Amino acid sequence: MSTPAAYFDAQYARATDPWHLDERWYDRRKYQLTVAALPRPRYERAFEPGCSTGVLTELLAGRCDHLLSTDRVPSAVETTVRRTAGLDHVDVQRMTVPDEWPEQTFDLVVLSELLYYFDEATRTRLLRRSVGSLVAGGHLVTVHWNHPVAEHTCTGREIADHLDALPGPEQSPGSHLSRLARYDDPDFTLTVHAHIPDGGPALSPAHAEGLA
Ligand SMILES: C[S@@+](CC[C@H](N)C(=O)[O-])C[C@H]1O[C@@H](n2cnc3c(N)ncnc32)[C@H](O)[C@@H]1O
Repeated sequence: MSTPAAYFDAQYARATDPWHLDERWYDRRKYQLTVAALPRPRYERAFEPGCSTGVLTELLAGRCDHLLSTDRVPSAVETTVRRTAGLDHVDVQRMTVPDEWPEQTFDLVVLSELLYYFDEATRTRLLRRSVGSLVAGGHLVTVHWNHPVAEHTCTGREIADHLDALPGPEQSPGSHLSRLARYDDPDFTLTVHAHIPDGGPALSPAHAEGLA
């Protein structure tokens, strides 16, 4: 079963930043590793569902021409709106994924500390929607905690394995993810995939600059 909405409402009822995302070196380092792993220097349109208080949002904003960041909880949305005030290219909205989903396409989707809140069927639907929103060559980045938590349905390593097990181009023509990178930290696992609809290899940063 997916983590119920009431859990998130209760978290934000007790604190503005229930996971202390603004405070710890652990999170700061992980956010820096996440943006460092982005294969391109800049993205045209990025989507970040589950943005919470917008710490990662602010870092992503420096790499995107337009960023849509969303959360299911209104107070999280309000905090991120305040944090990104003055960043006109950042749009923050209340949205519950995957039932609600933006209509536009993106060249970057970032799923950070979100996918372990869903049962396997809903997680698969969310990943399908993410891939369906990516333009050809667009990137999907996931990053998730690896230690057991009562409210989590799986770990970051299991999410990376789930991504590897998604149907290939033969079974799912037009929506194929090709893995560019996987980083297994003891505490979290980070993955980077490219959407290659016909199943070819993804362009690495060195390939993209003609170095390899
Ligand atoms: C642990 S926080 C992670 C925040 C941020 N992505 C990060 O990595 O720092 C998870 C956030 O996801 C939001 N969330 C959970 N389920 C969601 C859903 N179905 N749709 C949108 N947001 C959701 C929660 O409200 C919470 O703010």
